Amino acid sequence: MISAMPTLTNVRFVRTSRNWRSQPPGRRCISTLLPPRTPAFVFDIDGVLLRGETVLEPTRNAFRILHGENPFNRKIPYIFLTNGGGVSEETRCLNLSRQLGFDIPINRYIQSHTILKSIAHRFHDKHVLVLGGRGNTLKSVAHSYGFRKVYNPLDILAWNHAIYPFIDLTEEEKMMHGTHQDLSKVKFHAILVFHDPRNWGLDIQVMCDILRGNGFLAEPTSIHSATDVEVIFCNPDLLWKNEWEGPRLGQGGFRKAWEGVWSHLKMGQNDPVITQLGKPTRETYSFAADVLREVSDELDVKLTFGSSDDVGTLGRSSSNIYMIGDNPESDIAGANLAGWNSVLVHTGVYDPRHRPSLPESKRPTLEAKDVEEAVRLVIHEEIKFTR
Ligand code: G3P
Ligand code: MG
Repeated sequence: MISAMPTLTNVRFVRTSRNWRSQPPGRRCISTLLPPRTPAFVFDIDGVLLRGETVLEPTRNAFRILHGENPFNRKIPYIFLTNGGGVSEETRCLNLSRQLGFDIPINRYIQSHTILKSIAHRFHDKHVLVLGGRGNTLKSVAHSYGFRKVYNPLDILAWNHAIYPFIDLTEEEKMMHGTHQDLSKVKFHAILVFHDPRNWGLDIQVMCDILRGNGFLAEPTSIHSATDVEVIFCNPDLLWKNEWEGPRLGQGGFRKAWEGVWSHLKMGQNDPVITQLGKPTRETYSFAADVLREVSDELDVKLTFGSSDDVGTLGRSSSNIYMIGDNPESDIAGANLAGWNSVLVHTGVYDPRHRPSLPESKRPTLEAKDVEEAVRLVIHEEIKFTR
């Protein structure tokens, strides 16, 4: 049994006009008696619930509170929003369900590339290159999203080893990635960086070849504009946290490396159309808001979206949505842009020992030592906010 939280029976809630606190006690008018709002949670994964494959100790208690052991005596809505990925949502959900010991519905799980489901229709009959993940895993995920003509850099290497002679494919890989298609005739319309690439050298070489060829791998006969090809990155994180004591380079590091090489290689070519998705982008937070709305409706919890202007008057957003994250650059910055509230936990990328001063745009509503304390603080905050 988790340690006691205030029960609602002995707490009296009064919602009054916004600036009631400025009223002298005698003049405060009590408009209605309303139960406090139920908060809704959006959980980051790496550095909040898990460190690599390790479940952080407070995580299970946090979900006991959300599953009903709370002053609201009800299920509190929550979803997962990670910049991680690399496998299908089903696989990630099954893994996390096994690790946390309860079933997680797939619709509650948003990875960095899940949002690509909403743009697959634009490329359903066009060739795209998918980067990241192991082997052909992300090709099948891309197919499940609606992309039909999908290749990855290992397919291109299996087609012509000279493209990147520094990696020798195993016989099994040659079988897995071999193709009868003459890839020099294929025009790629998009390069989709689903997850952290494993062979930066190969992936950067192939990206640059396709851009220099304006979609074709073949060496260009004349300088093209490279604008026919879209490049979509799904995760901007330069750093993320796993079991290793120091943060690890993420997909954002790969982007920087590619940009460095491309800037020297492009020789007067225009840059491709580049789209950045993932936290903190508005696209990803609005995608998450739609998913959270669905889950909250199922639990009959009303969402208040608030706006970043609230912070001026209330010192926090009026929203009852709370992003729980370990990275000010992604989790917190995104929540602030979306007009949500946020809690920065100290179990991941953000190191409170060094307390780097955070600009307003990356400053959280609250800080907590871990995810359980974050959930307790939010419930307390919401009870206080509606008083
Ligand atoms: O590759 C994953 C990493 O960039 C961060 O994941 O769960 O902290 O958003 P997460
Ligand atoms: Mg994280």
